[in-house]
Amino acid sequence: MEKKTAVGIVGGLGHIGLIQAACLAKLGYKSIAYDINSAKIKDIQRGKMPFYEPGLEELVHETMDNGLLVFTTRVTDLQEAEMIFICTGTPALPSGEADTSQVYSAIEEVARHRSNQALVIIKSTVPAGTCRKIAAFLQERDLAARAAVVSCPEFLREGSGVQDFWKPSRIVVGAPSRETAEKVAGLYSPPGIPILLTTWENAELIKHASNAFLASKISFINEIALLCEQVGADIRVVSRGIGLDPRINPHFLEAGIGFSGPCLEKDLKSLLRQFQEAKKEAKLLEAALRVNEEKRREIVHKLQAKLGGLRGRRIAVLGMAFKPQTDDVRDSHSLPIIKQLLSAGASVTVHDPWIKSPRGGRLAENDLPGVEWASSPHAAAQGKDALLILTAWPEYRELDLKQIKDCLAVPLIVDGRNIYESGQLRELGIDYQGVGI
Ligand SMILES: NC(=O)c1ccc[n+]([C@@H]2O[C@H](COP(=O)([O-])OP(=O)(O)OC[C@H]3O[C@@H](n4cnc5c(N)ncnc54)[C@H](O)[C@@H]3O)[C@@H](O)[C@H]2O)c1
Repeated sequence: MEKKTAVGIVGGLGHIGLIQAACLAKLGYKSIAYDINSAKIKDIQRGKMPFYEPGLEELVHETMDNGLLVFTTRVTDLQEAEMIFICTGTPALPSGEADTSQVYSAIEEVARHRSNQALVIIKSTVPAGTCRKIAAFLQERDLAARAAVVSCPEFLREGSGVQDFWKPSRIVVGAPSRETAEKVAGLYSPPGIPILLTTWENAELIKHASNAFLASKISFINEIALLCEQVGADIRVVSRGIGLDPRINPHFLEAGIGFSGPCLEKDLKSLLRQFQEAKKEAKLLEAALRVNEEKRREIVHKLQAKLGGLRGRRIAVLGMAFKPQTDDVRDSHSLPIIKQLLSAGASVTVHDPWIKSPRGGRLAENDLPGVEWASSPHAAAQGKDALLILTAWPEYRELDLKQIKDCLAVPLIVDGRNIYESGQLRELGIDYQGVGI
């Protein structure tokens, strides 16, 4: 394979960084993945992946073996790369504001250790105006000659991240000059994929507004689900009928316990803060967040009403990951829901196909005190007063529900993801409570 130039990836052991690094290496670029987490670097050099992502492990091993993917904790190793992707985290502060400090410190660190100028391409999700502020920050520190800022927001989805890298929905690049934007887009632009070259602020806002739109769509269908329960309609049929309209489309129209995970809620909160800072109201987006927060409480209330209280009740929870095909529990609904169950006096047994212990979910031992971890859904259900479905894992759809009923002390299934056919469960004598059905 033709060997291309070197690229740097800062935060190269994170979810976005590692996918970016391995896929660019597969394309023939020498990918230098730099991360400050030396434990993760040691692990990957010994063959242990920092997280699960379908198709990624094979790609990492292949590109490490052919020498195109290298890992380092030395920022000076990025010197040979002309383009450097910033993939560090931007977690939410308690105020909802995005904490961009990792992005700033990573860029400063890179710039301070260079002898020539690099393009620093921000993949991390940052509020509109951040690239401009970073350019001024570099200028003030006399570092502008060593780092030129470009925005290239990432749209891939965990669970299909590698696939999304090869076939992105679009490539958006924000830069002060078209020439710079084209250079970044030219690194990997598969045929037929729309490319939008634009300004820093447009690119930054496209990312936040896209996630806010998806979050609002979920809250919209969850609000309709509330009415379905009152008028005897089935949200799954209603949703299907709505989604058949090509102007709407069927995606993100599944009613359930709402959106969770490391992006949608965090990015929505960050966008709301951006409105506050601009002294403008975002009534629709505020409502989308409120509906989501209520949904999380609603499922616990449903369980409580059915069991006549939760004190002393034994609940089996299926699903810890925020969605199927990932072992990521960051901002997963399961955490606050299990905490609500525990504080109401219930005992909880959890099963997840990929997360078998707090350590497996990268949780602190005391994050979920007293929770038991079961090796199978049946073991979780054994002798329990209810089964609560929180993640729509395909294997849960395939469960022998007759056997599950026989395991349960009380045949009650509260399904936060609407994965079963209500008629079939009711025929089995299971009290089945979905969302909007
Ligand atoms: N996870 C997703 O699905 C997704 C999708 C699209 C966009 N994003 C955005 O991408 C960004 C990264 O998200 P993530 O989920 O990959 O985060 P992550 O926490 O998985 O990874 C961040 C990595 O950056 C490293 N790091 C932190 N500071 C560093 C520094 N100064 N120098 C070098 N390395 C440093 C950390 O050790 C970690 O390995 C966020 O802004 C997120 O909002 C994430």
